[in-house]
Amino acid sequence: MKQRVLILGAKDCAAHAAEAAGRAGLEAVVATSVPNEPEAMADAARTNGAEGIYCADEAHVEAAAAASSKLGFPCLSEYAARLLHSKEALRSALARETGLNPRYGIAGSLAETEQIIRRLGLPAVVKPLEGAWGQGALIVRDIADAPLAFTRAVKHASSGRVLLEPYLPGHEYRVICHRSQGRWSTLMVYSNVPAEHDHLFDRALVAPVRVAGPLRDKLRASVRTVMRVMGGGHGLVVLEFMVSGEGLHLVELSRISQSWALATELFPAISGIDLLEVDVASALGKPFDTKPRFKVCAALWWLTARSGVVSAVHGEEKVRAVPGVVRLQLNAQPGTVLGHQVDVPSRDAVGHVLVTARSPRRALEKAQYASEYVRIDTRAALGQ
Ligand SMILES: Nc1ncnc2c1ncn2[C@@H]1O[C@H](COP(=O)(O)OP(=O)(O)O)[C@@H](O)[C@H]1O
Ligand SMILES: [Mg+2]
Repeated sequence: MKQRVLILGAKDCAAHAAEAAGRAGLEAVVATSVPNEPEAMADAARTNGAEGIYCADEAHVEAAAAASSKLGFPCLSEYAARLLHSKEALRSALARETGLNPRYGIAGSLAETEQIIRRLGLPAVVKPLEGAWGQGALIVRDIADAPLAFTRAVKHASSGRVLLEPYLPGHEYRVICHRSQGRWSTLMVYSNVPAEHDHLFDRALVAPVRVAGPLRDKLRASVRTVMRVMGGGHGLVVLEFMVSGEGLHLVELSRISQSWALATELFPAISGIDLLEVDVASALGKPFDTKPRFKVCAALWWLTARSGVVSAVHGEEKVRAVPGVVRLQLNAQPGTVLGHQVDVPSRDAVGHVLVTARSPRRALEKAQYASEYVRIDTRAALGQ
């Protein structure tokens, strides 16, 4: 009989995790409306005969870790889960033990937001304290935009508070680590190409990225420090670092399950391994089998489109004919209503192209030009 895993979290994330469970040969029980508290989650696991709990998003990760530890299932420690979920908990832990925080402030009102922005200087970043998936995060270049940024961010903050930091223009390195049985190791370093303008989501991801020289030593030491601060536990985490004129800082910790295109497409393209499948299976104590089956470089480029109602999509054949294109994912179809691309969900509504090549630079170039063949016609422009 197949082993059963209980999958918790928001619908989209849970659906991807359930598919990954199927690929791993597990039976998934998806429960998206269980209250966000440990006893209810533990009950749901018992009632469904689950042998593990997989939490597919960051909003439910603390309660899920408490429920798993109650039932003796392998999981992140409750402390590590708190650092993943709350940027306030992460900033305090890093402030106590490391120099990896950028300058920052926490605000619960617009007046506090404006006061902190004046202290940090412009441009500044405003984001929800419990944010994930880039939702509600904005760059403020003019103090007059503080009300908009505060209102947007606070909508996604369960604490009703926002985190403020200076905008750090630089290069972002993301390090995927896994921990099991008291040991941890690094799987890969990847990087992102930021969107232009005032938005904080990625235009593309590229992997694997090789870091050389003094930065490599600094990054290694910082990964070690962060993994020590997180402490014990079991599972995959992504460490998001920013290297800018202000130095090397940890932007945040995130879960692989919220970046499923990375986990189920980019990572498999470079190594043959589906990270989401491995992560879900690890909730049942299965060992992380992350030995690469092959090695190549890849880039994932998100498509762009004007907002409105999609009337036609052109260029699919041309994209697929570009050597190295391994996938064209078109989420926008005639009739799809596309909002303005201002964050990760509105960007993901369009689709992406995945390309492999011999070097990261070449993969990125090819992914960009392949994506330019796609043309999405829209009509009936949307209001704000
Ligand atoms: N202070 C900052 N300076 C520059 N870019 C930032 C800053 N904070 C966040 N970002 C960018 O915005 C993205 C989303 O912010 P992040 O803190 O990771 O929130 P989320 O939990 O929503 O992913 C990051 O991956 C990074 O690219
Ligand atoms: Mg992030």
